[in-house]
Amino acid sequence: MKIKYEVKKIKDIKADVVCSAAFEDQAEQKLHWLNTLFKGTLDTLIETNDFKGKVNSTVLSYLGPDNRSKRLMILGLGNSKEVTLEILRKAYASAAKKVNSFKLNSAAFEVPDLALIKSITGASHYEVMQAICEGVFLTQYNPKKYYTKNDYTPINEVIFFTDSPKYTREATEALKDSKIVCDAVIVARDLENEPSNFLTPEKFAEYVKKSSIKGGYSVTVFDEKKISQLNMGCVLAVGKGSSNPPRFLILQYFGANKSEKPVVLVGKGVTFDSGGISIKPAQGMDQMKMDMGGAAAVVGAFEAVARLKYKMNLIGLIPAVENMPDANSYKPGDVLKSYSGTTVEIDNTDAEGRLILADALDYAANYKPKAVIDVCTLTGAAVICFGHLLAGLMGNDAELKKKIFAAGEKTYERVWELPLYNEYDKLMKSEIADIKNAGPARQAGTIMGGIFLKKFVQDKYPWAHLDIASVAFNLAESAEEYHTPGATGYGVRLFTELLKQYSH
Ligand code: BES
Ligand code: ZN
Ligand code: ZN
Repeated sequence: MKIKYEVKKIKDIKADVVCSAAFEDQAEQKLHWLNTLFKGTLDTLIETNDFKGKVNSTVLSYLGPDNRSKRLMILGLGNSKEVTLEILRKAYASAAKKVNSFKLNSAAFEVPDLALIKSITGASHYEVMQAICEGVFLTQYNPKKYYTKNDYTPINEVIFFTDSPKYTREATEALKDSKIVCDAVIVARDLENEPSNFLTPEKFAEYVKKSSIKGGYSVTVFDEKKISQLNMGCVLAVGKGSSNPPRFLILQYFGANKSEKPVVLVGKGVTFDSGGISIKPAQGMDQMKMDMGGAAAVVGAFEAVARLKYKMNLIGLIPAVENMPDANSYKPGDVLKSYSGTTVEIDNTDAEGRLILADALDYAANYKPKAVIDVCTLTGAAVICFGHLLAGLMGNDAELKKKIFAAGEKTYERVWELPLYNEYDKLMKSEIADIKNAGPARQAGTIMGGIFLKKFVQDKYPWAHLDIASVAFNLAESAEEYHTPGATGYGVRLFTELLKQYSH
């Protein structure tokens, strides 16, 4: 995709469609202004009053033969006094999706008065432009990869234009950065949506390795033998039931002096979760190819951070496994030993995510990290708790949680905190091992996931846990305009925003 920022008048823009933006309270004036400019093209639209500038609404009209662009789309931004960054993101996403539906090659999007939006939202010109760019770029994703006849047409050339040269520096910077971040979101979505017959732990590792070479970070991959030698007993056990053996990935990015402590991201990489011996019901099981949404968010964060050249050190730990029922599978009642030696009684083989994360969180301590954040599609209970709006945030460090919350509000990849009170600990007690992997059914399921992980972290480092089971993939009815069917790539924008604060 070619991208451009042009300081030009709308009349001078050449694209298959030129999209002008209008606030609801200024829609009438805007239509008259455009109508004068384009010599009466909008007469009937004005007469019918069909376009009112409502948020996410669009209208298409055709321009006469003496114009550089043939089509004019007007997109509604809602009331100018109520505009937010999320409203912009959604409005531009709606317009971009419309452009896709017309199968047009090039589209130009008007950038509204950044100063006006800045004064209402309090966001910087950079952030306003970032939201607009995200709206357009995040929709340019091909969900029909496996159609043999694929008629999806992405926009090949995107122009953002304004007739004021005032904000060119911030706007072009935001444009460049947003493209990097949105590309990283799309990498994450692609990985998540990939069927598990193609994306095994081994293939996942190969993909990341290949991508890291272009991306500017490095990857070390442990195979099953190495995982066993290192005594990562939980990863090993969960992977045992599958003919696709596990992998353990270590991603490294050094943007600061090597002696500087890193931030560690840990991502759950279950390429398919059948539940194992405690097998899941058939309905919805297909979605469990996306049970590596946490791992995908970590990879996406690396893609973005390395290309944005953040001045910080970042480590990514990804245990990748397939959870399957088989004669070799681990079973309820088994006792496993994690990397640090903590013993776990298996209550339910479907609570596999927390097991592989336990090894990774143990391993994370080796880095003496500044902070560790794990991200995982850990509990169905997160969907019960939050619907598809928010991810669950837990952890042992108030400052870290505060930073994550703020990054969530800004990117609209929002989180809400759940408590890890010690009183919950006893629900995970085992008679035969240090802890068991599931608490009583239907009680604080998402918190129980956090309580289990807390046992492995203790206070070894500042830690936050993000349960993204609620937001990693969407249902059509709850999907935001800038989402595409299936995976959302949740976490990439959140992490990129959060980690900016560690860059110096
Ligand atoms: N991968 C699932 C959680 C999940 C469910 C993610 C739905 C996304 C959508 C996880 O491994 C799991 O099965 N968790 C169990 C835990 C229970 C057995 C303690 C669950 O949530 O039921
Ligand atoms: Zn499971
Ligand atoms: Zn799972």
